[in-house]
Amino acid sequence: MAKKYYITTPIYYPSGNWHIGHCYTTVICDALARFHRMKGEDVFFLTGTDEHGQKIEKEAKARNITPLAFIDPLVAELKDMWRLLDISYDRFIRTTDEDHIACVQKIYQKLYESGDIYKAEYMGHYCTPCESFWTETQLKNGRCPDCGREVTVQKEESYFFRLSKYAPRLLKLYENDPEFLQPKSRVNEMVNNFLKAGLNDLCVSRTTVKWGVQLPFDQDHYAYVWIDALSNYISALGYASENDALYKKFWPAELHLVGKEIVRFHAIVWPAILMALGEPLPKQVYGHGWLLIGGEKLSKSKENARPELTEPYELVKRYGTDAVRYYLLREIPFGSDGEYTTERFIGRINADLANDLGNLVSRTQAMIAQNFGGKVPPRGESEEPDGELIALCEALYSKVDADMGALNAPAALADIFEVISRANKYIDETMPWALAKDPAKRARLGTVLYNLAETVRIVAVMLKPFLTKASQAILASLSFDENAGFDTLAFGTLREGAAVEKTAPLFPRMDLKKELAEVEKIVKKARKEGEKLAKKEGSLPEQGADGVPQTKPAIAIDDFAKIELKVGEVIACERVKKSEKLLHETVKIGEEVRSVVSGIAKFYTPEEMVGKKVVVVTNLKPATLCGVLSEGMILCAEDGAGNLSLVSPERLVESGATVR
Ligand code: MSP
Repeated sequence: MAKKYYITTPIYYPSGNWHIGHCYTTVICDALARFHRMKGEDVFFLTGTDEHGQKIEKEAKARNITPLAFIDPLVAELKDMWRLLDISYDRFIRTTDEDHIACVQKIYQKLYESGDIYKAEYMGHYCTPCESFWTETQLKNGRCPDCGREVTVQKEESYFFRLSKYAPRLLKLYENDPEFLQPKSRVNEMVNNFLKAGLNDLCVSRTTVKWGVQLPFDQDHYAYVWIDALSNYISALGYASENDALYKKFWPAELHLVGKEIVRFHAIVWPAILMALGEPLPKQVYGHGWLLIGGEKLSKSKENARPELTEPYELVKRYGTDAVRYYLLREIPFGSDGEYTTERFIGRINADLANDLGNLVSRTQAMIAQNFGGKVPPRGESEEPDGELIALCEALYSKVDADMGALNAPAALADIFEVISRANKYIDETMPWALAKDPAKRARLGTVLYNLAETVRIVAVMLKPFLTKASQAILASLSFDENAGFDTLAFGTLREGAAVEKTAPLFPRMDLKKELAEVEKIVKKARKEGEKLAKKEGSLPEQGADGVPQTKPAIAIDDFAKIELKVGEVIACERVKKSEKLLHETVKIGEEVRSVVSGIAKFYTPEEMVGKKVVVVTNLKPATLCGVLSEGMILCAEDGAGNLSLVSPERLVESGATVR
């Protein structure tokens, strides 16, 4: 029976603004899934979306639509992105799928019945954007230790999971199974920062957030999003359902690949839940590093995720699927963070794909066309330096297999490209153009070109998990089966006489300067469009001509009374895509939460805005600015030079207070 291989990505928050940082985990998982399929293993590759929770509930409310109406287009966008990047998942799970919801309820019921979930009063510090509760000691300067935003104190009757009970077993797990969590540095982090101090029980239900899975034993309570989300790894296989054949076959997973910021949930909470359920643990959790821009995590809420530069759709449109996959798989040292720059991106593609691979393929095709009428010549007798090239080709699979076994895609690609470089050097050494001039050397020329064609074929087969498009094109150009697996790797498999077609250059060389200028142009254009749209659609405060404050006619007090002004507190804030001027604030006004767009991005950062008390015009007709709903206007003072300063109540007042 074929070996099975179950691999998962985290499930993504459907927040839009996708950037290549988001694609990192999934592209690596895809390469691994493809690699294991080619080994003949029975692979199940899972990805999906994490759709419940307060954030979604609020976003939908701010737009006056249902959560699903808000989420569905984002899920479609994500699926489209995976299609563009050739992601070969076996299931795309949504936490709003019926079978998932039923499974989460069964998990809660089981844990409740076994006493691992119990009811008590909860008070904690909640970070809404991160959907995380923190204890007093975990806060950093009173703020969320993950994102630095303000947290709110929340108190309610809740259900708790006995996480504390599992701390000793978790510690043992880390002692006895060094493979469970990788890389090793993350183990130290878990053990020293969390486990050694002992664990608190985890609050696993909410009454305030209704967009979630209702608990089967208490209808006023809804599942904590992280328990809901983590359960996807087994609900996707039909755990605790009538149809659990996939679960029986594929669980435990070989690998949960996740970003380092969510290791805590996967390496502490998840194994404890599984222990409580009496189910086996995944064989490995791997916490990979981040893609950085300017030393900071590429992030949807930060300016650095410039859509024109880092949005996968734009990159794929401009450079192709393979280039984006290659960059992500090759450039970031596995386990560490890696910086993204256009220079590095173009540099990698030019050096490795256009020069090394592209040249090898096109030179081989051209020389076979020229000298052998486009047919693979006979292999003939080998002589030096053939042996070294052939030996490298023959050793390639086991090297790459070891690399991929260690999840090290950059090393696997480095090994494949070592063969490519060796083959290019082989061309320089054997000088086929000189052999072609001497009729007595025709047999030798045939051998050299056979060896090159065969190397190209082997390289193409090995590249299939990584470069999904180019590998197919190369194999097709050699009239070789595009579905070829690793069982075709023996050197000498390529048939004499097989047609070799010339293809268009696989990766045209790019001019870095031109690309940089082009990218700058695209960014400028996108920003201009954003501003234009903002002006057209909405209510950006018009400046007086020449910066001179406009004098308006006097109004009666009744006119003024038509304006409703209230104090609000900014609870979340991000930049508006495609706009230099706009910020998108989530403002809490008393009990109400509103989405507000304001033209203050040049004067305040999103981080600064969070926690600020502002004055909001609350009865303005809603408008859409750059595609974002604005349900009010935040008041600012403007000086003669056009600088804006927020207007805030001078003393501490509750949000929701009236301004008059
Ligand atoms: N919904 C949770 C996961 C629940 S899993 C039970 C979540 N979602 S996410 O959309 O925020 O992140 C999805 C994946 O994208 C994570 O692995 C995360 O680490 C990854 N990345 C997001 N930005 C990233 C970079 N800048 N660099 C590399 N990966 C990063 O977390």
